[in-house]
Amino acid sequence: MADTPSSQNGDTVCKSRGQWAGHLGFILAASGSAIGLGNIWKFPYITGDYGGGAFVLVYLICVVIVGLPLMLAELIIGRGAQCNPVGAFQHFHRKGSPWQLVGWLGVASGFLILSFYSIIAGWAIAYIIKSIAGFSGSAETIQSQFGALVTSPGASIFWHTIFMGLCIGIVVGGVQKGIERWSKILMPALFLILLGLMCYGLFGTHAGMKALTFLFKPDFHKLTAEGVLSALGHAFFTLSLGMGAMITYGSYMKKSESLLRDAVTVSFLDTFIALMAGVAIFAMVFNYGLEPSQGPGLIFKTLPVLFAETGPWVSVPFFVLLAFAALTSGISLLEVVVSYFIDQRGWSRVKATILWGGMIYLVGILSAVSSWQIPFIRGKNESFLDIFDFITTNYMLPVGGFLTCLYIAWIMKDKDRSEEFGSSGKLYRALRFTLRYITPVALVVVILHGLKLLPFMDYSH
Ligand code: TRP
Repeated sequence: MADTPSSQNGDTVCKSRGQWAGHLGFILAASGSAIGLGNIWKFPYITGDYGGGAFVLVYLICVVIVGLPLMLAELIIGRGAQCNPVGAFQHFHRKGSPWQLVGWLGVASGFLILSFYSIIAGWAIAYIIKSIAGFSGSAETIQSQFGALVTSPGASIFWHTIFMGLCIGIVVGGVQKGIERWSKILMPALFLILLGLMCYGLFGTHAGMKALTFLFKPDFHKLTAEGVLSALGHAFFTLSLGMGAMITYGSYMKKSESLLRDAVTVSFLDTFIALMAGVAIFAMVFNYGLEPSQGPGLIFKTLPVLFAETGPWVSVPFFVLLAFAALTSGISLLEVVVSYFIDQRGWSRVKATILWGGMIYLVGILSAVSSWQIPFIRGKNESFLDIFDFITTNYMLPVGGFLTCLYIAWIMKDKDRSEEFGSSGKLYRALRFTLRYITPVALVVVILHGLKLLPFMDYSH
């Protein structure tokens, strides 16, 4: 039974829509989108870099005051319009409204993010195979494997092909038979693997307590302004916000679901998984007497050295976990682009997925060749992967999120908003207040920081 959206201006942009078969389908698919490389790769290494507990605490606060409200905002727009991000803004405002540019920005961000995300995800798959063979030799030999992979265009493109092939194969299947079905397999598997790795970290090493203390005992002396800003930016990235992914997934939800309950569940699961990954990883790092601040190489360089000691029964599940997490995020990135072409251009799903998946694949090749570098605003030659990552994370997503927030907080009609939210009581007013006065301010700070324009920061290095 499909509910017809109650359009304010009478023109329903999106006609027939897929829907999640069940409640769990949405929860798993949306958590799958949120839980990605950001949780298993980025969160642990930035936590290590910014000193642990205090950073984690600030991050948790950011999830609650910025992430959760914005996720609700996206779900309200998506389910309310039952449409892709561009159509959703047309639905609530009007066709040709400048707000639909926000939807466009989202589709473009999805395209660009997936193009480089797929390269990193491809490395994760490559490391599954390397793990099966086992890591051995000196620390330098093991670490140099990563450099060899990154600088070998052939290998990076090969694994990129596999990853994009998997994303396309799943998204072609549609909402229920593709995304939902695979999320129901991959997400529980991911959870079980991580549970196993966390238990290993806690009980199989001698550093379980140390890892817990590092993550959960705040030491505010270690917290820097830079750390706070990273926590803010990450809270936002890890929940897949600012590019219409949650608008798109929300558009497949039934009207009977409570958006608040679902947004809280997804944000909680995302955070919980990141913390579990943190415990597993830091227990291993401390067990071998290493420093937690290993930077972005933590997963692909530092851990393999430790895996040489633990053996493949720890490393294989670990990289399978990373690949699964990346895959469920990859499919949501692709779905944003695909749903736009299905809804707005009337394409068939097969055509939209193969054609646009193919385009993303081709652009991804730019990021796969690390020796192709161009000068960029940071005054040095940089690879496409770094540039695309920088532009999307620092500019496109925060700007998209900021405008989405402005729209729902200040432009959308109170009635439309409260109707989707399901009440107009205290909680609703608290959400509206947060979206009006707190979330946008936080996002402006992220944007200004990306532009190096914050007055109290030192950008000289
Ligand atoms: N949340 C994902 C992660 O933690 C990354 C991501 C950012 C993303 N924006 C997205 C995924 C949009 C899907 C859609 O890795």
